[in-house]
Amino acid sequence: MLRNKKILLGVSGSIAAYKTALLIRLLVKDGAEVRVVMTPAAKNFITPLTLATLSKNPVLSDFYTASDSTWNNHVELGLWADLFLIAPASGNTLGKLANGISDNLLSACYLSARCPVWLAPAMDLDMWQHDATQRNIRRLESFGNYIIDPGTGELASGLEGQGRLAEPEEILEKLREHFAYSLRLNGKKALVTAGPTYENLDPVRFIGNYSSGKMGFSIAEALAEQGAEVTLVSGPTHLKTHNAGITRVNIVSAEDMLNACLDVHKDQDIVVMSAAVADYRPENIAQQKIKKKDMLFLLKLTKTTDVLKTLGADKPKNQVLVGFALETENELKNAKEKLKTKNLDFIVLNSMNDPGAGFSSDMNKITIIDKKNKTTSFPLKDKAEVAKDIVEKIIELTHA
Ligand code: CTP
Repeated sequence: MLRNKKILLGVSGSIAAYKTALLIRLLVKDGAEVRVVMTPAAKNFITPLTLATLSKNPVLSDFYTASDSTWNNHVELGLWADLFLIAPASGNTLGKLANGISDNLLSACYLSARCPVWLAPAMDLDMWQHDATQRNIRRLESFGNYIIDPGTGELASGLEGQGRLAEPEEILEKLREHFAYSLRLNGKKALVTAGPTYENLDPVRFIGNYSSGKMGFSIAEALAEQGAEVTLVSGPTHLKTHNAGITRVNIVSAEDMLNACLDVHKDQDIVVMSAAVADYRPENIAQQKIKKKDMLFLLKLTKTTDVLKTLGADKPKNQVLVGFALETENELKNAKEKLKTKNLDFIVLNSMNDPGAGFSSDMNKITIIDKKNKTTSFPLKDKAEVAKDIVEKIIELTHA
């Protein structure tokens, strides 16, 4: 189940650290490759030798190993891992992670890690219930980290209550579920478009729009997180991609976007057109800078090709094709019309009437309408979360 998965296990200072010996055995037996990072305090509870022997890898604890002058590169470790599990996560470690403190190798790895992070807290009842700990937990969840709640029972202090590290078998099960759930688009190819297009007027001017590209970039990340091999065709934006599964193609104009999409669309299982493509471009592009002369300056525009409609007209069987509709009036009616005329599997409606949502914002509020007319409205959310909702709908259709 965890075959070939690279798991970085962070062990912090809690009596429950003794349980990590069994946990490592279970992970390795399940096929995972395990590397262990310990906080200095954790070494008081279990020896690095035990964990190194069980994980079949050296255990790291310091930034620098004096004996052989090795720098233990936390960035490399963070990038190596498919998943970072911190078990047990002590109250102190949770506090550091929630506040970006990186004064040991484990907490520095946390800041560098790009992979999903799972935390299994363990501490005494009153520490667990303290507002500070609960606030830290909520904060870590808001960073997208996953929490495996501690169990209830007899604690090392002799008190009874919640605080025991979840059992190793339960932790293993959570990780198995995570991988089964998170790679549902393994082997699938996806094309995503994002950002604005710029239509040149002359060598120094263009017609553009306020699209930031955030929605499309979030969709590309969410698809890649599910294992898809993503081609992201992006108009001009300052955004960066993170997942190694994304290949970025930079374009400028609607025509460039059309050509970049035509190059690859036939091979795709999934196509999501979230770019804000110009509908018109200047009929002629002036070779020299246009000089100001008359009071009135008329610009002749000509229609661009509708990229999505073109792809829809030549859609391979079984491809899931998704479009966006940005509307200011008659939202549902217009969106349904676009769904039909562009031959889409579903359309994502953004209304310009929703305060705080849409262009340039970090948030969005969407309604998904599929070709069976099923309409689902979502609340205002961060674009990364909106992207996950869109990807869920794609997964539902690719598995239908
Ligand atoms: N789109 C496209 N090529 C264009 C224009 C739009 O591929 N030249 C795509 C967008 O990426 C989006 C969908 O079509 O997925 C709808 O875009 P939108 O601007 O809402 O609608 P339009 O079809 O351009 O129609 P209108 O501007 O009249 O609302």
